Amino acid sequence: DPRLQAIDPSQLSISKTTTPKDLVPNEELVFGRTFTDHMLSLEWTASEGWLAPRITPYQNLSLDPATCVFHYAFEAFEGMKAYKDKSGNVRLFRPDRNMARLNKSVARIALPTFDGKALTELISKFTTLEERFIPSHLSARGYSLYLRPTMIGTQRTLGVGPPGSALLYVIASPVGPYYPTGFKAISLEATNYAVRAWPGGVGDKKLGANYAPCIVPQMQAAKRGFHQNLWLFEGPNGEEYVTEVGTMNLFAAIVNKEGKNELLTAPLDGTILEGVTRDSILALARERLQPEGWVVSEKKFTMQDLADAADEGRMLEVFGAGTAAVVSPIRNISWRNRLVECGLEQGEECGPITQRMKNWIEGIQYGEEAHPWSVKL
Ligand code: COI
Repeated sequence: DPRLQAIDPSQLSISKTTTPKDLVPNEELVFGRTFTDHMLSLEWTASEGWLAPRITPYQNLSLDPATCVFHYAFEAFEGMKAYKDKSGNVRLFRPDRNMARLNKSVARIALPTFDGKALTELISKFTTLEERFIPSHLSARGYSLYLRPTMIGTQRTLGVGPPGSALLYVIASPVGPYYPTGFKAISLEATNYAVRAWPGGVGDKKLGANYAPCIVPQMQAAKRGFHQNLWLFEGPNGEEYVTEVGTMNLFAAIVNKEGKNELLTAPLDGTILEGVTRDSILALARERLQPEGWVVSEKKFTMQDLADAADEGRMLEVFGAGTAAVVSPIRNISWRNRLVECGLEQGEECGPITQRMKNWIEGIQYGEEAHPWSVKL
């Protein structure tokens, strides 16, 4: 796309660390707390465009306290993962999707667009350089190298306007399960006293500013023993629509009122983060579950619909989906002083549809199933 601003990967300079870090054993990894030796950075100015990319040792940024990112939240990011397959090849999962989404996010907040193919080429080089940090799934599936492309406005000004300079950087963190409870079913609390996003807003963009306001409701849910809160959106007649979890999109498998198995997720109406895992699950469900008689639906549904399904014995399973969360089974959802049980037996951590979906997605991510989504570096 010629409207995307050019990046020249051939100008990449690499300066390697002289103090390589020790690797952290898988079982000691806490999500997003351990980083690799290096980072990839590109600066942009309004007059010169994207400057030469650099890989340097992982290091602090030095920014003036008046830099616009600190005042007006000029920040957008991505979450993507690199995997090592059983032959030792490094793989990315649908990087084109992350590039397209980051371009949509940055465009919305007046930061510069970029050529996604060129950035993917640079991320591939960076990931290859950090290969020793990519956990081998031969020891345990569910481990990978989380990549965090980030763009910030770097103009030094308290004036509110389009940043005249920006920084795009990518850092990498070896990770296991997102939730500290490990690969176990989690509990959600439905939040109906606040909203995460609204029609015409920016809830479908991956902006840092969408995340900070989610923490207080999450802390309140945590105080009552829930792992995360589930965001609802009130319709014109008081309907409490199920939206997303903030760290992941939500899927429900129910038997619908016509007696058919149905996999449900909220539609992309501008209030839902356009998850790459969400999109992948929908595609796999249409390809692999629909022929088994499943109805696959992107449509609005309410907490009452889920409670009715639970009360009438039509609830099958609920799971969350995201890059960090992968496919996370959900045990129950607290809503209006009751617990809506999500189909798991006591002691059961993952239902059969959730497990199949997780196996399909991870099979592709780890290169066990040959698939165009998995890009070998
Ligand atoms: C991801 O799944 O990559 C995300 O960005 C979610 C984040 C809250 C960890």
